[in-house]
Amino acid sequence: MKQKFTEKLKKWRHDHQEQYAKTIIETPKEMQLYSMLPFPGAVLIMGDRRMGKTATAHEGANKMHQRRGLPAVIHMPHVPENIRRSIQRHLPDWMKVVVRRSEWPKNCVVIYDEAAQSAHARRSQSGAAVELDDLIGISGQRNQLIFFISHHSRKLDVNIITEVNRIIWKKPSYAHQLFERDEVADFSMRAYDYFDQFRGNRPWLEATKAKAKRYNLVLDFDQFGFYQCKNNLPPWWTEDLSRLFQDVQRVVKGVI
Ligand SMILES: Nc1ncnc2c1ncn2[C@@H]1O[C@H](COP(=O)(O)OP(=O)(O)OP(=O)(O)O)[C@@H](O)[C@H]1O
Ligand SMILES: [Mg+2]
Repeated sequence: MKQKFTEKLKKWRHDHQEQYAKTIIETPKEMQLYSMLPFPGAVLIMGDRRMGKTATAHEGANKMHQRRGLPAVIHMPHVPENIRRSIQRHLPDWMKVVVRRSEWPKNCVVIYDEAAQSAHARRSQSGAAVELDDLIGISGQRNQLIFFISHHSRKLDVNIITEVNRIIWKKPSYAHQLFERDEVADFSMRAYDYFDQFRGNRPWLEATKAKAKRYNLVLDFDQFGFYQCKNNLPPWWTEDLSRLFQDVQRVVKGVI
Protein backbone atom coordinates (compact mmCIF):
# COMPACT_ATOMS: atom_id res chain seq x y z
CA MET A 1 0.00 0.00 0.00
CA LYS A 2 2.70 2.44 1.04
CA GLN A 3 4.85 1.54 -1.94
CA LYS A 4 1.96 2.14 -4.24
CA PHE A 5 1.29 5.60 -2.91
CA THR A 6 4.94 6.59 -2.88
CA GLU A 7 5.11 5.62 -6.53
CA LYS A 8 2.03 7.65 -7.26
CA LEU A 9 3.45 10.70 -5.53
CA LYS A 10 6.78 10.32 -7.30
CA LYS A 11 5.06 10.29 -10.64
CA TRP A 12 2.96 13.25 -9.65
CA ARG A 13 6.05 15.20 -8.61
CA HIS A 14 7.75 14.31 -11.84
CA ASP A 15 4.81 15.52 -13.91
CA HIS A 16 4.40 18.70 -11.89
CA GLN A 17 8.00 19.43 -11.04
CA GLU A 18 7.87 23.17 -11.52
CA GLN A 19 4.60 23.54 -9.72
CA TYR A 20 5.89 21.41 -6.86
CA ALA A 21 9.04 23.49 -6.37
CA LYS A 22 7.11 26.75 -6.66
CA THR A 23 4.56 25.60 -4.17
CA ILE A 24 7.14 24.72 -1.58
CA ILE A 25 9.04 28.01 -1.97
CA GLU A 26 6.33 30.61 -2.52
CA THR A 27 4.63 32.56 0.23
CA PRO A 28 1.23 30.94 0.68
CA LYS A 29 -1.62 33.05 -0.63
CA GLU A 30 -3.99 34.47 1.97
CA MET A 31 -7.53 33.13 1.85
CA GLN A 32 -10.66 32.95 3.96
CA LEU A 33 -11.24 29.72 5.86
CA TYR A 34 -14.60 29.15 4.18
CA SER A 35 -13.18 29.33 0.68
CA MET A 36 -10.62 26.69 1.61
CA LEU A 37 -13.23 24.11 2.57
CA PRO A 38 -14.19 21.48 0.00
CA PHE A 39 -17.79 20.36 -0.18
CA PRO A 40 -18.27 17.49 -0.30
CA GLY A 41 -14.81 16.46 0.77
CA ALA A 42 -12.36 15.55 3.48
CA VAL A 43 -9.96 17.73 5.43
CA LEU A 44 -7.19 16.54 7.72
CA ILE A 45 -6.24 18.91 10.53
CA MET A 46 -2.86 18.29 12.12
CA GLY A 47 -0.73 20.09 14.67
CA ASP A 48 0.60 20.12 18.19
CA ARG A 49 -1.48 19.73 21.32
CA ARG A 50 -3.52 22.77 22.32
CA MET A 51 -2.76 24.63 19.10
CA GLY A 52 -6.38 24.95 17.99
CA LYS A 53 -7.22 21.88 15.90
CA THR A 54 -10.61 21.20 17.43
CA ALA A 55 -11.54 24.89 17.58
CA THR A 56 -10.66 25.26 13.90
CA ALA A 57 -12.89 22.34 12.92
CA HIS A 58 -15.73 23.92 14.91
CA GLU A 59 -15.18 27.26 13.21
CA GLY A 60 -15.15 25.47 9.84
CA ALA A 61 -18.50 23.91 10.71
CA ASN A 62 -19.73 27.34 11.80
CA LYS A 63 -18.88 28.83 8.42
CA MET A 64 -20.49 25.92 6.55
CA HIS A 65 -23.61 26.42 8.62
CA GLN A 66 -23.71 30.17 8.03
CA ARG A 67 -23.08 29.93 4.29
CA ARG A 68 -24.82 26.69 3.36
CA GLY A 69 -27.15 25.99 6.27
CA LEU A 70 -25.46 22.64 6.93
CA PRO A 71 -25.85 20.87 10.26
CA ALA A 72 -22.85 19.21 11.93
CA VAL A 73 -22.12 16.13 14.01
CA ILE A 74 -19.24 15.41 16.37
CA HIS A 75 -18.46 11.72 16.35
CA MET A 76 -17.73 10.54 19.89
CA PRO A 77 -18.20 6.85 20.44
CA HIS A 78 -16.69 5.44 23.66
CA VAL A 79 -17.22 8.71 25.50
CA PRO A 80 -19.30 8.50 28.70
CA GLU A 81 -22.77 9.90 28.37
CA ASN A 82 -22.34 12.53 31.09
CA ILE A 83 -19.41 14.11 29.24
CA ARG A 84 -21.21 13.91 25.91
CA ARG A 85 -24.20 15.66 27.45
CA SER A 86 -22.07 18.39 28.98
CA ILE A 87 -20.46 19.01 25.62
CA GLN A 88 -23.84 19.04 23.87
CA ARG A 89 -25.05 21.77 26.24
CA HIS A 90 -22.34 24.10 24.95
CA LEU A 91 -23.16 23.53 21.30
CA PRO A 92 -25.69 25.21 19.00
CA ASP A 93 -28.73 23.06 18.27
CA TRP A 94 -27.63 22.28 14.71
CA MET A 95 -24.45 20.61 16.03
CA LYS A 96 -24.97 17.19 17.62
CA VAL A 97 -22.72 14.82 19.49
CA VAL A 98 -23.27 11.32 18.06
CA VAL A 99 -21.96 7.85 18.80
CA ARG A 100 -22.88 5.95 15.65
CA ARG A 101 -22.12 6.49 12.02
CA SER A 102 -25.74 5.84 11.15
CA GLU A 103 -26.45 9.15 12.91
CA TRP A 104 -24.46 11.13 10.37
CA PRO A 105 -27.03 12.81 8.12
CA LYS A 106 -26.58 13.44 4.44
CA ASN A 107 -25.57 17.03 3.67
CA CYS A 108 -23.66 17.72 6.82
CA VAL A 109 -20.29 18.43 8.39
CA VAL A 110 -18.66 15.65 10.42
CA ILE A 111 -15.98 16.29 13.02
CA TYR A 112 -13.96 13.15 13.63
CA ASP A 113 -11.35 13.86 16.27
CA GLU A 114 -8.83 11.07 16.38
CA ALA A 115 -7.94 12.04 19.92
CA ALA A 116 -11.53 11.35 20.93
CA GLN A 117 -11.56 7.79 19.60
CA SER A 118 -10.61 4.95 21.87
CA ALA A 119 -7.09 3.54 21.83
CA HIS A 120 -8.65 0.19 21.04
CA ALA A 121 -10.33 1.52 17.91
CA ARG A 122 -7.07 3.11 16.84
CA ARG A 123 -5.15 -0.13 17.20
CA SER A 124 -7.62 -2.36 15.45
CA GLN A 125 -6.72 -2.58 11.79
CA SER A 126 -10.07 -3.93 10.80
CA GLY A 127 -11.69 -1.14 12.79
CA ALA A 128 -10.85 2.52 12.64
CA ALA A 129 -8.39 2.62 9.75
CA VAL A 130 -10.52 0.70 7.32
CA GLU A 131 -13.63 2.46 8.47
CA LEU A 132 -12.06 5.87 7.89
CA ASP A 133 -10.85 4.83 4.49
CA ASP A 134 -14.27 4.07 3.12
CA LEU A 135 -15.77 7.06 4.89
CA ILE A 136 -13.96 9.39 2.55
CA GLY A 137 -15.43 7.63 -0.48
CA ILE A 138 -18.88 7.67 1.02
CA SER A 139 -18.64 11.33 2.02
CA GLY A 140 -18.79 12.30 -1.66
CA GLN A 141 -21.98 10.38 -2.26
CA ARG A 142 -23.55 11.58 0.96
CA ASN A 143 -22.57 15.22 0.50
CA GLN A 144 -20.54 15.50 3.65
CA LEU A 145 -17.51 17.48 4.68
CA ILE A 146 -15.43 15.40 7.09
CA PHE A 147 -12.81 16.95 9.34
CA PHE A 148 -10.30 14.39 10.59
CA ILE A 149 -8.17 15.66 13.43
CA SER A 150 -4.84 14.12 14.38
CA HIS A 151 -1.63 15.22 16.07
CA HIS A 152 0.40 13.97 13.15
CA SER A 153 0.19 11.64 10.24
CA ARG A 154 2.15 8.75 11.76
CA LYS A 155 -0.96 7.79 13.67
CA LEU A 156 -3.19 7.76 10.63
CA ASP A 157 -3.83 5.22 7.99
CA VAL A 158 -2.02 6.28 4.84
CA ASN A 159 -5.22 6.07 2.82
CA ILE A 160 -6.61 8.99 4.71
CA ILE A 161 -3.70 11.18 3.85
CA THR A 162 -3.86 10.32 0.20
CA GLU A 163 -7.60 10.71 -0.09
CA VAL A 164 -8.12 14.02 1.67
CA ASN A 165 -8.71 17.19 -0.33
CA ARG A 166 -6.89 19.46 2.12
CA ILE A 167 -4.45 19.26 4.97
CA ILE A 168 -4.76 22.11 7.44
CA TRP A 169 -1.81 22.55 9.76
CA LYS A 170 -1.94 24.24 13.10
CA LYS A 171 1.50 24.78 14.60
CA PRO A 172 3.32 21.43 14.54
CA SER A 173 5.98 20.45 17.05
CA TYR A 174 9.51 19.73 15.94
CA ALA A 175 9.19 16.08 16.94
CA HIS A 176 5.95 15.66 15.01
CA GLN A 177 7.60 16.95 11.93
CA LEU A 178 10.46 14.45 12.30
CA PHE A 179 8.12 11.50 12.73
CA GLU A 180 5.85 12.46 9.90
CA ARG A 181 5.03 9.87 7.29
CA ASP A 182 7.35 10.04 4.26
CA GLU A 183 4.44 10.93 2.03
CA VAL A 184 3.89 14.24 3.76
CA ALA A 185 7.36 14.95 5.19
CA ASP A 186 8.22 17.78 2.75
CA PHE A 187 4.91 19.43 3.38
CA SER A 188 5.17 19.13 7.13
CA MET A 189 8.61 20.65 7.03
CA ARG A 190 7.08 23.55 5.14
CA ALA A 191 4.42 23.84 7.82
CA TYR A 192 7.04 23.78 10.54
CA ASP A 193 8.95 26.62 8.88
CA TYR A 194 5.77 28.58 8.28
CA PHE A 195 4.85 28.57 11.96
CA ASP A 196 8.41 29.14 13.07
CA GLN A 197 8.20 32.64 11.57
CA PHE A 198 5.80 33.59 14.33
CA ARG A 199 8.41 33.25 17.02
CA GLY A 200 11.24 34.87 15.05
CA ASN A 201 14.51 33.86 16.63
CA ARG A 202 13.11 33.73 20.13
CA PRO A 203 11.82 30.75 22.06
CA TRP A 204 8.06 30.27 21.90
CA LEU A 205 6.31 32.63 24.30
CA GLU A 206 2.66 32.48 25.31
CA ALA A 207 1.97 35.58 23.23
CA THR A 208 3.53 34.21 20.05
CA LYS A 209 1.79 30.88 20.57
CA ALA A 210 -1.53 32.66 20.99
CA LYS A 211 -0.96 34.42 17.67
CA ALA A 212 0.07 31.20 15.92
CA LYS A 213 -3.14 29.49 17.08
CA ARG A 214 -5.15 31.84 14.91
CA TYR A 215 -3.37 30.83 11.74
CA ASN A 216 -3.60 27.85 9.43
CA LEU A 217 -1.37 26.63 6.68
CA VAL A 218 -3.50 24.82 4.12
CA LEU A 219 -2.36 22.41 1.45
CA ASP A 220 -4.93 22.11 -1.28
CA PHE A 221 -4.50 18.79 -3.07
CA ASP A 222 -7.07 19.66 -5.72
CA GLN A 223 -5.27 22.80 -6.96
CA PHE A 224 -1.98 21.71 -5.47
CA GLY A 225 -0.90 24.78 -3.61
CA PHE A 226 -0.30 26.17 -0.13
CA TYR A 227 -2.58 28.84 1.29
CA GLN A 228 -2.77 30.57 4.62
CA CYS A 229 -5.82 31.66 6.51
CA LYS A 230 -6.76 33.02 9.90
CA ASN A 231 -9.63 31.78 11.95
CA ASN A 232 -11.49 33.06 14.95
CA LEU A 233 -12.97 30.93 17.66
CA PRO A 234 -16.60 29.96 17.00
CA PRO A 235 -19.13 31.92 19.09
CA TRP A 236 -20.00 28.96 21.33
CA TRP A 237 -16.38 28.17 22.19
CA THR A 238 -15.50 28.65 25.84
CA GLU A 239 -12.69 27.52 28.08
CA ASP A 240 -15.21 25.19 29.75
CA LEU A 241 -15.90 23.51 26.43
CA SER A 242 -12.19 23.30 25.75
CA ARG A 243 -11.70 21.60 29.12
CA LEU A 244 -14.47 19.11 28.35
CA PHE A 245 -12.65 18.09 25.18
CA GLN A 246 -9.52 17.60 27.25
CA ASP A 247 -11.54 15.41 29.63
CA VAL A 248 -12.61 13.32 26.65
CA GLN A 249 -8.98 12.70 25.80
CA ARG A 250 -8.16 11.71 29.36
CA VAL A 251 -11.13 9.36 29.44
CA VAL A 252 -10.27 7.58 26.22
CA LYS A 253 -6.68 7.21 27.39
CA GLY A 254 -7.99 5.68 30.59
CA VAL A 255 -6.75 8.42 32.92
CA ILE A 256 -10.21 9.32 34.25
N1 LIG B 1 -8.32 30.63 16.43
C1 LIG B 1 -8.05 30.80 17.73
N2 LIG B 1 -7.97 32.04 18.26
C2 LIG B 1 -7.71 32.22 19.56
N3 LIG B 1 -7.51 31.23 20.45
C3 LIG B 1 -7.55 29.98 19.99
C4 LIG B 1 -7.83 29.69 18.62
N4 LIG B 1 -7.83 28.35 18.45
C5 LIG B 1 -7.57 27.83 19.66
N5 LIG B 1 -7.41 28.80 20.60
C6 LIG B 1 -7.13 28.58 22.04
O1 LIG B 1 -6.38 27.39 22.20
C7 LIG B 1 -7.05 26.47 23.06
C8 LIG B 1 -6.84 25.06 22.53
O2 LIG B 1 -7.59 24.88 21.35
P1 LIG B 1 -8.07 23.44 20.89
O3 LIG B 1 -8.72 22.70 21.99
O4 LIG B 1 -8.83 23.61 19.63
O5 LIG B 1 -6.65 22.76 20.58
P2 LIG B 1 -6.34 21.29 20.04
O6 LIG B 1 -5.21 21.43 19.07
O7 LIG B 1 -7.57 20.63 19.56
O8 LIG B 1 -5.81 20.61 21.39
P3 LIG B 1 -5.70 19.03 21.72
O9 LIG B 1 -4.49 18.54 20.98
O10 LIG B 1 -5.50 19.02 23.20
O11 LIG B 1 -6.97 18.37 21.28
C9 LIG B 1 -8.52 26.93 23.04
O12 LIG B 1 -9.22 26.66 24.20
C10 LIG B 1 -8.40 28.42 22.83
O13 LIG B 1 -8.24 29.06 24.08
MG1 LIG C 1 -8.57 18.90 20.23
